[in-house]
Amino acid sequence: MPIAKTQDPRPNPQDLAPKTLLVTGGAGFIGSNFVRYVLREHPDWTVVNLDKLTYAGNLANLADIEATYGLDAFARNQEPSTKDQQPRYFFVHGDICDRELVDSLFTGSYFSSQHLTPSPQDLRPNSVVNFAAESHVDRSLLDASPFIETNIKGTQVLLDAARTYWLDSSSAKNQELRTNNRFIQISTDEVYGFLGEIGKFTEKSSLLPNSPYAASKAAADMLCRAYHKTYSLPIIITRSSNNYGPYQFPEKLIPLMIRNALNGKELPVYGKGLQVRDWLYVEDNCRAIDLVLQKGRAGEVYNIGGNCEKKNIDVVSLICEILKDLISKNQGPIPNTQDLRPNIQFIKDPRGAAHDFRYALDCSKIEEELGWEPTRDFEKGLEETIEWYLENQDWVESVITGEYQEYYEKVYGRE
Ligand code: NAD
Ligand code: TYD
Repeated sequence: MPIAKTQDPRPNPQDLAPKTLLVTGGAGFIGSNFVRYVLREHPDWTVVNLDKLTYAGNLANLADIEATYGLDAFARNQEPSTKDQQPRYFFVHGDICDRELVDSLFTGSYFSSQHLTPSPQDLRPNSVVNFAAESHVDRSLLDASPFIETNIKGTQVLLDAARTYWLDSSSAKNQELRTNNRFIQISTDEVYGFLGEIGKFTEKSSLLPNSPYAASKAAADMLCRAYHKTYSLPIIITRSSNNYGPYQFPEKLIPLMIRNALNGKELPVYGKGLQVRDWLYVEDNCRAIDLVLQKGRAGEVYNIGGNCEKKNIDVVSLICEILKDLISKNQGPIPNTQDLRPNIQFIKDPRGAAHDFRYALDCSKIEEELGWEPTRDFEKGLEETIEWYLENQDWVESVITGEYQEYYEKVYGRE
């Protein structure tokens, strides 16, 4: 029976109980936007961000958050720009595969052994949002190992810790942690695999992943499902389409094209650029994840899409047009030395036959149950994103290291 459309999408009072969130991968693209979003939207929530700081994770993504909500802001005895009485953001440098470390976060021994000043409140998590992952398809084609390790093994470590400390009745002292727990697994539309010209994936579609990245994410989804079925662990899986927005590492389509265009480099479009992706502004995704965390049903999967299908070549052409416009209006700190005429090059597709032609999501479940829908118009969102990259070219260059040049050469030839 279809579930009636929710009239009032606001959370129930019990769902508004303060959360202590363990966010993993919070120094990456979506994770850092999510941390910023929840600390702003929920003044009584606390975030512990566990991140390994791989090539894709950067503390610079959260410098403003650390300065406003972090321990140092309070320890320095400065007047923070919020009215918070306590630090609400804590960064932990570490690997989700490290069982001992993850356990110590759940028992609280990690922070109690640090003798922090001011000494923080109870930081044991009552919810987990697992963003931590190796996330780039092209890298998974070069070497699948880190994908298997982090995306599957790491998820299992987190699930085991949540099971032990939230569900195990012998750990009586954790009683207070066992209310309103949620384990949100951040998954992707890529687990569904290939879609032809028509139709959309629903949450009931089969999982038929085609890249090692997608296969590792599908395996993690299956593990989450199994922990729900076997142990009643309150997991929820979100599967979103392609995100775009500030702080995205410049290996993904949109930021890579912006950077290359600004540096007078080729814009490498795979094949004929006819593949279709559904684009979702990152803040729309953060709002959806926040709603799922508060009101989603345990054991369920929610698709989160932008309702915005575009061919790759059209996205790249639009980026070129917007850049041209911004330059003619002379907005922002646009470098004056580059040749910004689009230099689109159709290159041999590094993904070959495994390149999924199209993704599209049916999002009626989250729309009807939780009252969510995407709000950002693609052209507007893209323009804002390009402006952000123009204003943050130092950030772009600071996150790129020699490792990026090596990776770039492997996929595209010389930078
Ligand atoms: P990202 O690559 O920008 O960030 C990943 C973060 O995880 C980085 O901060 C990295 O340091 C951290 N990390 C990696 N391995 C780790 C480990 N073993 N332990 C702890 N931290 C580790 O990724 P993103 O684009 O922000 O994606 C976040 C999540 O969303 C991923 O799970 C991805 O599969 C999913 N997703 C992304 C998109 C997208 O368009 N970017 C779309 C759908 C789903
Ligand atoms: P990407 O941003 O890597 O996301 P995903 O593989 O998760 O969809 O790629 C989006 C699309 O753009 C995908 O069809 C591959 C294509 N693409 C290019 O044509 N050129 C590029 O340099 C990149 C990175 C991607």
